[in-house]
Amino acid sequence: MRSVVLFSSAILALTSFTAASQKPTASKTPEAPSPAVALTPPMGWNSWNFFAEKVTDKDIRDAADQLVATGMRDAGYVYVNIDDTWEGQRDANGVLHSNSKFPEMKALADYVHSRGLKIGIYSSPGPKTCAGYEGSLDHEVQDAQLYAQWGIDYVKYDLCSFTGDVMVKQAPYHFSEQMKLMHAAYAKMGTALRSTGRPMVYSFCQYGRDAVWEWAPSFGGNLWRTTGDISPDWDRIYVIASQQAGLEKYSGPGHWNDPDMLEVGNGSLTLEENRSHFTLWAMLAAPLLAGNDLPNMKPEIKAILTNREVIAIDQDSLGKQGTRVYSEGETDVWMRHLAGGALAIAVINAGDSRYPTHPFHLSLAKLGLHGKQTGKDLWTGETITLSEGEPLELKRHDVLLVRIDASQ
Ligand code: GLA
Repeated sequence: MRSVVLFSSAILALTSFTAASQKPTASKTPEAPSPAVALTPPMGWNSWNFFAEKVTDKDIRDAADQLVATGMRDAGYVYVNIDDTWEGQRDANGVLHSNSKFPEMKALADYVHSRGLKIGIYSSPGPKTCAGYEGSLDHEVQDAQLYAQWGIDYVKYDLCSFTGDVMVKQAPYHFSEQMKLMHAAYAKMGTALRSTGRPMVYSFCQYGRDAVWEWAPSFGGNLWRTTGDISPDWDRIYVIASQQAGLEKYSGPGHWNDPDMLEVGNGSLTLEENRSHFTLWAMLAAPLLAGNDLPNMKPEIKAILTNREVIAIDQDSLGKQGTRVYSEGETDVWMRHLAGGALAIAVINAGDSRYPTHPFHLSLAKLGLHGKQTGKDLWTGETITLSEGEPLELKRHDVLLVRIDASQ
């Protein structure tokens, strides 16, 4: 770890010099600490999971309108994030322009801001983005300044072609050198963003390579993807959730593990699967970036995404990521410590039987709890009292989520 920290300081110093030599218009020095953003996991909506490369300016405006109309904004979903495929070509001065799907980015940002929302954008440290559009390689300072001029509040930076076109080409067969190049690329954009003086959430997307959770915060990362891409499929969602085990200690206010954007309401996920997916992300203190078709959202999906008490678990001020304490058969038991000594317990029937083959008996002792525990079932809203060995009936892929406050 120590060597990583020393390395990061060296890279930051180097990239600060580079940024300064490109004369950023910023009022702040590149070394100034970034203002506090992402003190709780970022919440909002991102275009990729539903629209992918088809997204247009109109879809972004519609999403902004819907966040307001559905009450999602007031429930905390404030970032409207444009993912890949907005990028056009660079002009003779290297300034990047949006493509014909996005006629005027500043006007779009103003529109989103006028709805009391914030706006996010996407790029890559490579020459091309994952969908083959223009990336930021060698234009980091210029792009960061452009984002600031447009009024961007959030930047997702996706590794994509940087691997093949830079890491592999510059350091063939030399893994550690390749990783250094990757670190430097993320540090460089971090410095460029900071040097604009505009607070922007900085989201790393490099699929968890090189234990990103260990070094991302020192390079200004507010969140970092821990895995490859999510899809609207229970098995994929469950695998990603399981892969968060052991990463708890890296997460906290200002810097979060990101198990990828939500698929709630997408594909053919059942109601139970949507509920369990949302519960798991709340237990994980994960960023909550909805990715569904907001203008056509069904009421039961809206009810999941706007369940304020589940959101409160995700957004808890302690910022302590939950843990999978134990599994038995097809059932997993997660626990999360919350501010004020409160607890959240989630019991998930992850298997494929409609009900667990044998009744599941919850062990409070395994959670370090003794005696009856009274709390609130956050999906029914009812009071629930759990005893040692409590028999639970959970449908296939369904969840029981209970909040227990400290004074009982
Ligand atoms: C990668 C990312 C996705 C999305 C696409 C866009 O696959 O992991 O989240 O941004 O690129 O091309």
